[in-house]
Order: sequence, then C-alpha cells, then structure tokens
Amino acid sequence: MMPLNVLSVTSELFPIIKTGGLADVAGALPGALAKEGIRVVTLLPGYPAVLPGLDKMEVVRSYDDLWGGPARLIAARAGHLDLFVIDAPHLFDRPGSPYLTPDGRDWPDNARRFAALSRVAADIGFGLVPGFVPDVVHAHDWQAGLAPAYLHFDDRPRPGTVITVHNIAFQGLFPADLLYELGLPPSAFTIDGVEYYGQIGFLKAGLQLADRITTVSPTYAREIQTPEGGMGLDGLLRARAPDVSGILNGVDEDIWNPATDPNLKARFGPDAIEARAFNKEALQRRLGLTVDPDAMLFGVVSRLSEQKGLDLVLGALPVLLEDGAQLALLGAGDRILESSFQAAAAVYPGQVACFLGYDEVLAHQIQGGSDALLVPSRFEPCGLTQLCAMRYGNVPIVSRVGGLADTVIDANEMAVAAGAATGFQFSPVSLPAALEAFSRAKRLWSDADAWRRLQANGMALDVGWSRPARQYADLYRECLEEI
Ligand code: ADP
Ligand code: GLC
Repeated sequence: MMPLNVLSVTSELFPIIKTGGLADVAGALPGALAKEGIRVVTLLPGYPAVLPGLDKMEVVRSYDDLWGGPARLIAARAGHLDLFVIDAPHLFDRPGSPYLTPDGRDWPDNARRFAALSRVAADIGFGLVPGFVPDVVHAHDWQAGLAPAYLHFDDRPRPGTVITVHNIAFQGLFPADLLYELGLPPSAFTIDGVEYYGQIGFLKAGLQLADRITTVSPTYAREIQTPEGGMGLDGLLRARAPDVSGILNGVDEDIWNPATDPNLKARFGPDAIEARAFNKEALQRRLGLTVDPDAMLFGVVSRLSEQKGLDLVLGALPVLLEDGAQLALLGAGDRILESSFQAAAAVYPGQVACFLGYDEVLAHQIQGGSDALLVPSRFEPCGLTQLCAMRYGNVPIVSRVGGLADTVIDANEMAVAAGAATGFQFSPVSLPAALEAFSRAKRLWSDADAWRRLQANGMALDVGWSRPARQYADLYRECLEEI
C-alpha cells in the first residue's frame, strides 16, 4: 500500500478545542488513518487553549505579515496527534469560542482569521515546509474552504484536495470587497470560483474547487443536493454529483468505551448491561432527580440550536413526563431554549434536570445512565451522540434525517422480530410524530426483555472509525490518480 501524507485543515480538534462533532472527527480520524498507511498532520489555529498543551515545538515557517501582524507556524505534538499550529496572536489569541466573541457575536475579522488558516494550508500544500509535503490537503467546513481556492488559483504543482461538509448551514459568507485583501485574483470572483450571490463564499469556494467533496453520511449527501437541504448550494452539488460522497462518521472507541470509562460509576459491557442501573442512580442523584429505577429516564446531550429540534421536546414534556418519567438535559447555546429548559426544571422538580454548559464528564454519565437519548434534529449531517448512545446501551430516539436515518434501525414490529432494531425513528420532524415515537419507546421500555434486546443490538454495532478510515483512504488515493 502506497504511504500517503495528508494535511487535515480544521478549526477545532478534540481534545484541545471543541464546540461540536467536527472536533471529535478531526481528533479521531488521524489515528484511524495511520492504520491505513496514511500520515496525517493537522493544521489548527493557535487559540489560547492550544499553545500551552504542545510538546516538541519547532518553528517551521515565519510570516512578517499574516493579515495584520507577524505569525509563526509551529510543528508540534499533542498526545498522539501531529500538528501544525498557527501562532498569530493578532488573529487567534482571544477569549471566547473559536468563532464568537465572549458575548456571542461573530468575530468581525473572521474572514481574515480563517483565510489565514487556508493560506497557511496552501503554503504547506505547495511544499514550503520541509519535512512534510502533503499528497492531499483535506479541508473541513467553511473555515478551511479557501484552501482549495488558494491551491487552485496558482501556477505551482499542487496536491489533491478534498473538502468535507460537516454542516451546510454554516457557509462563511463575506463581502466581495475583501477579495484583494484575501489575496485572491480578480479572476477568482466568478460563479466558477469563490463568488456566491455577490459575496465571497468560503464553503462555496471549497465545494467548487476541491477535487472531491465528502459529507458525513450517505443520506446527508443526498439531502444537500435537494433545494430543501442544500441551503442554496444544491445546484452546485448536483452539478458536481459524481465527485460527492457520504462517509459516515465513527466514534472514538477508546474515549467512548463503557467497559473502561472512568467517568462512570459502574463500567459495563454487553454481557452486564444491568450494571447501568448504578449509573442511572448516580445520575439521578447528581442532577437532583428523584432516585427511582422504575422512572424511565430520557437524556439529551446537545448544542441548543434550531437544528437540534429540542423545542419538540419542550412541547412534548407534559406527555413525555406522564407516569413519572424523567428528563436529564445537558446543553448550551440558544438563550431562549436555555431559559425554557430551566423553567421546565422549575415546573417539574425531581423530574426534569438541566445542566446548561459544556461538561464532558456529564455527557458520558448521561450516555451511561439514561434509558433513552432524544435526538429530534430538524437536519443532522451525521450526529455522534446517537452513536455514543448505542455503544452505551442508551436507546436513541431520533428523527429520520441525515446520519440519524443511516445509523438507527427503528423498532417497528418487523425489525424487532428480526432482532435488528436499535432505537426509534420518527418522520416528519413534528410534534405529533415525535410524541408517537416517545410513546412507542415507553411501551417497549415496560417490556424489560424486549428493551434489553434493543440495547444489546445497539451495543453490538460497529460504530468505530476503521470502516470510515478505509473509505477516506480509498478516496484520497482515487483523488490522486485524477490530478
Ligand atoms: P454537532 O456537531 O452538530 O454539535 P454531533 O452529535 O456531531 O453534533 O456532536 C456533538 C458532540 O459534542 C458530541 O461529542 C457530544 O457528546 C458533544 N456535546 C454536545 N453538547 C455538549 C455539552 N453541552 N457538553 C458536553 N458535550 C457536548
Ligand atoms: C456537524 C454536524 C453533525 C456531525 C458533526 C461531525 O457539527 O452538525 O451532525 O456529526 O458535524 O461531522
């Protein structure tokens, strides 16, 4: 097998800096690809959380002026990951999230900040950093979308380019008059280049100019080619259909392993699912829920945003909580959703608990202790929490969209009889459909043996990274054959 070098270009990376599933994917894929003979180095902005955790740091390139100040490119290691980090304090040394100010607004210079990420990626792609010459540059989401553009609008020989769409709702749109400042030639501002309805579209540029396009599930690959799911980019994606594919995400099987998870009160495997009862009790205690093994406990671990459909859970609460059932929610984001769940916790003391914020440990405890996980997303490119849930014997109840449709097998009569069911799906994404799935789940939960089979089916699934890593490896090789 021919060894390959791949530069992965990402704006977040677990465990260093994470706002969502992109970090998990970017953090897990390099290790899985190593088994396919692929060496991945990840390029990441030098946010405050990044620089202190690095080992074996070496400055490999300097910039006198990277959009407003000097910068250094540092090669380093963090855990098992090989990194390039852009140390550019004027762009990245700030409080807040990678994308937002502490009061929740986009940083006003996000165009420059993420153009810098792509510019440096292209420089590495052109072989300007001795010791690591990538065969393929793999860009993730809009933040890395200009990397294929900088590589394209240049005369030098270039590596292959792949862009992965983790969420087409975030497109990176900026005013056209930034074109010159971003170092793009006037010829780039056309429908075949970076132009998108009169603006510069970072994601659009990547989708137009990368050799291959992937997204994170086969169903989402189809959905984004439709007017309903493409959010304006469906025409472009249809035109490029032969180059578009969907590769399902995995989860990191070392981090998400119920048999070894240090965050759980009781560790368990498929042969000892009953040990989850200790985790349920510990979770109820930690969150101030009534400690009761016979109360069905629903969990949520989610960003609180329109995408995730959690307003349906709010609407369903009176029915969901009948018979003393409970809800444990961990989430952060939209202020209105946050305060609505807080209000619900006050209305249903002992039955609804919400922890507003980001808490990795509690995420594991909800997965290891609740009976069912609610993921009622309006759209979901892949979704990772339903995969973690199945690995942890926590039965997912999901809307039938994107990666949720591809990963959960609905417990209809035939699937139950065939021993294949792993959870519950509902469609359309509406309150009546959600309520119907919630009550089907409650009915099946009262049959302990049937529920145990659902849990065991989910736990037996392969939700790791080996299969997707093989698919990415094949894709990189195909893409190199073509350029
Ligand atoms: P998205 O990337 O759209 O947010 P995913 O399901 O792909 O959705 O990934 C979400 C990741 O973030 C999962 O690893 C999940 O466990 C984690 N997560 C989401 N919200 C929280 C939270 N409030 N605290 C801890 N982890 C969270
Ligand atoms: C995005 C999507 C999510 C996906 C994740 C990782 O944040 O919303 O569905 O699992 O990226 O690919």
